[in-house]
Amino acid sequence: MQITLDRQVALITGASSGLGYACAEALAAAGAAVVINYHSQKDPAESLAEKIRARGGQAIAVAGDVSSEAEVDNLIKSTVSAFGRLDILVANSGLQKDASFADMTLADWNSVISVNLTGQFLCARAALRQFRQQQAKPELSRAAGKIIHMSSVHQVIPWAGHVNYAASKGGVDLLMRSIAQEVGEERIRVNAVAPGAIKTAINAETMQGDAEKKLLELIPYGRVGAAEDVANAVVWLASELSDYVHGTTLFIDGGMSLYPGFRNNG
Ligand code: BGC
Repeated sequence: MQITLDRQVALITGASSGLGYACAEALAAAGAAVVINYHSQKDPAESLAEKIRARGGQAIAVAGDVSSEAEVDNLIKSTVSAFGRLDILVANSGLQKDASFADMTLADWNSVISVNLTGQFLCARAALRQFRQQQAKPELSRAAGKIIHMSSVHQVIPWAGHVNYAASKGGVDLLMRSIAQEVGEERIRVNAVAPGAIKTAINAETMQGDAEKKLLELIPYGRVGAAEDVANAVVWLASELSDYVHGTTLFIDGGMSLYPGFRNNG
């Protein structure tokens, strides 16, 4: 069976770089019309949209801060006015503001929680409202809408120096599963992906040489991930092939969440 998302519309938040960018590119390659949301990096978002259009796909770039209720509502409006509907939300936007716990400021805490957790709440809620008011297209997808949350291995692995980030991702887990429990009977599918160490433009330097060697001790599968590893899983979760997958987090981490320290210890 082949994966196709033809005639479906996907909104990907935080898609001007990194995992969101790769997800938008992969969803478009699978046939979806994509809305590339960005916060401040307009140029890479616009050029991704152009690249997709040049390949014969459909794409637009739309600015918006996922922690703002009004801007999230506007994102959905822009999606519907460009492509008529919304079938797939990838709630991807996220950030880190790292500090040791005693030094973590309230501003560091609030900015991470408001983008990583409140942003996912606002986007999922807006998507759900849109799914409810549009007509389902069972010939394209048995689900009446699909929500994919971007989580992290740190929804289960505690992370010293990053308590705001780990708390936000722990929150995403129960946000996702509670929504899934609530809306499953409407045939709206809700899942998450939890990436481990993935090399993107932003962190490439911290994943080279000795730093990469040290990181690999935490990855039983023996390589750092690529953004495409995550994007491929997102495409599958958005597709008919995963129609019975609901309320689940798919870890894409080369085994990082397997407590690798125990391998040679005990
Ligand atoms: C973080 C990365 C980190 C990885 C594994 C991700 O959620 O965003 O910075 O390398 O978890 O620790």
